[in-house]
Parts: sequence; C-alpha cells; structure tokens
Amino acid sequence: MEQRFYRDSRVEVDLDAIYYNVTQLKKRLSATTGVYAVVKANGYGHGDVQVAKAAIEAGAERLAVALLDEALRLRRAGIDVPILVMGYIRPEDAEVASRENITVTVYQKEWVEQVGDMDGTPLNVHLKVDTGMGRLGVRSEEEMVGVLDAIREKPGVSLSGVFTHFATADEDDLAYYEEQNRRLEDLLERFRENWKQEVDIHTGNSAASMRFPEQMHQFIRFGISMYGLYPSHNVKKEKPIDLHPAFALYSNLIHAKKLEPGEAVSYGATYKTSSEEWVGTVPLGYADGWIRKLQGMEVLVNGKRCEIIGRICMDQFMVRLDGYYPSGTEVVLIGKQQEEEIEMDEVADYLETINYEIPCIITNRVPRIYKRNNEIIATSHRLQDPIV
Ligand SMILES: Cc1ncc(COP(=O)(O)O)c(C=O)c1O
Repeated sequence: MEQRFYRDSRVEVDLDAIYYNVTQLKKRLSATTGVYAVVKANGYGHGDVQVAKAAIEAGAERLAVALLDEALRLRRAGIDVPILVMGYIRPEDAEVASRENITVTVYQKEWVEQVGDMDGTPLNVHLKVDTGMGRLGVRSEEEMVGVLDAIREKPGVSLSGVFTHFATADEDDLAYYEEQNRRLEDLLERFRENWKQEVDIHTGNSAASMRFPEQMHQFIRFGISMYGLYPSHNVKKEKPIDLHPAFALYSNLIHAKKLEPGEAVSYGATYKTSSEEWVGTVPLGYADGWIRKLQGMEVLVNGKRCEIIGRICMDQFMVRLDGYYPSGTEVVLIGKQQEEEIEMDEVADYLETINYEIPCIITNRVPRIYKRNNEIIATSHRLQDPIV
C-alpha cells in the first residue's frame, strides 16, 4: 500500500486490536445484548471509518456518534448500519437525518414540535433520560410524557429507543451508579405506562457493560475500551476483560548533537545541560497535539526512556539521549519498543487528565496508518484532503 505522506511522525492504529476488544466484550455480554461502537470525535482520534468497519466486522451491530456531521461522514463512506447521534441536532436538520436514515436523540417536546413532517422516510428518534448525569435528557415523568405526546402528534417521527448515560460506572464506590439505575427503573416504569410499542433500551458505556454485563438491556455503547483503554485506573485493576490498545504514536530522530555543559535548549533557554549531553530532535510538536505541558515526559529511543528537555515547539521537541543515534532512529511516544512501553495512561497521568483525551488531542496533521495483520491497509492525513 502506497504511503502518500512525507513526514515520519505517525499514529499507527491496530485494527486487529479494535476487532479483538469488540469480540472480548461480546463474549462477556448476554447474546441478547447488542453493541453500539462509539466512533464520535473521529473514533476518539483513531479514525472513525476504519474503526467503524473493524468494529462492525467484529460484531458491533450499530454505531454511535455525537454530531450529525459525524454520522453523515460515515454514510458518505458507504457504511449502512444504524447510526445514532447521541448529541443535539437542530430541528431544521432533522430532514437530513431522516433522509440518511440516521437516528437522533430527543429530550424536549419543543424540539419535536419544531421538526417538519418528513415527507418520505420517517425520522427515527431515541428518547434520552437524564438519571443523574445532568447533561441531556428528560428528568421527570411530566417532561417525558410531554415529549411522548409530541411524538404521537408527529406521524413523521418514530420512537425506537430510550437511553441514559452513567456518570460514575467506572468508580469503586457504586452508590451513585445504583442511584442512577433506580431512577432509570422508575422512569422506565412510567414510560411503559405511557408507551405501549416496543423500544430498544441502552444504558451501559464501557465501564458498565464490562463490569455489569447482566444489568445491560438491548444494547450497550462501547467507547473507550473498544480502543483498548480502561475507563479508569479502578477498572484497569479489576480488568473485567482483556484489552489490546489500538493507538501507537511514533516518530524518528531527525538530528542528534553533542552539547557542551551549560548549553541551552529550546525557546526561553530554560533548559541548560549540566554536563556534556547528547540531544536529539523529534519532528512533532504542539501543533500535532504534543502539547507544551508534556515537557519532562519521556519517550523511547533504542528501548530506553529519554526525557523531553526544554520547551516543546510547534513542530519539534528535544530529548536527552544516552549517546549518538543517527537520523531516522525510531522514537516511540505512545506504544512499545523492545522491552519498554509508554502507555496512553502514562501520558494521561502526566497531564493529570484521562486517557480519553490523549488520542483526541493528537491532531490530524499527524497521519493515521491503519494496520490489519501487521499490513498497512489504509492511511489518512489531513494534508492530503481536497483543498477548499
Ligand atoms: C452518551 C454516551 N454514551 C456512551 C459513551 C461511551 O463511553 P465510554 O467511552 O466510556 O465507553 C459516551 C462517551 O462519552 C457518551 O457520551
């Protein structure tokens, strides 16, 4: 497969890992619980279309995204499985969603009243119930009945699902998770009194679906752990299923130089060599998402940990090496090299954030290389996109 980009820094996405993680989860779920593969935010920065295809091949029946634009992109890629937009869409855009057979989320009666008549294909909607996330969703029976009545009045709108989202399913203390489940059961009872047709219910994210598979309903929404990452350190320790990380970030050294003691490195000259030091330059910087706060973090060169020294620049940063290495020597920022590994979690901990955020902030200036059976099957890179 021809690689049409001209820089050494790259993300490698192991699609076999995506496949493996979905099959691991499916083994743990009851046979009656289906899987939404959550591929919003460009598949958590991995690449929406390639991840979606691998997840579907592994048995995910449906896809979930946050935005209508994300759903439309998947349709343009020829993906025809059901897609749910879990976030807000404007009522005037409902017609586009119905035409493309994209299911959207409803939680306000005014929204339902505002959508048009959908000549032709009906608009599929799922009702979002806020059981304690405090984000989107109806919270009371009154609000729920308002939305259901509005749907009944709209022949072009068809309700096919009800869902909620958990705020603490990844924590040790499960009191709030249980409280959300109690509120859900209560609202579902009210729902069934007011709505007689069958709908799909889906609640679980990665944490809930891996930890409490027996509590899941018709579908779960599998996000972070499909990418091979545990939703929290607690769940990682518990390890309800085995996961393979799909995302690795590589670069190559483009220069190595020996500096005398007391020489400065990078903007502000804030780093000074304390002795004779070998310094390597890596062609990746904050414009690629390798943000300035990562100064002091380590990368791997020749299987050894090397510290990032001096300020990270827009396109490059410097590391302290244990000796001379030629240009072209591989640098691993996230992933394995020889016996060493830098996990996504280590980068997240260094930045005092969660692993979810890290692949999302690696910008699309860094090419994504998709691998199956260790072979490159596709690449994507913003700099090759059509110019507008
Ligand atoms: C509504 C909703 N469902 C499911 C998910 C997937 O969650 P996770 O990535 O923890 O599996 C998300 C992710 O943020 C979400 O917002």
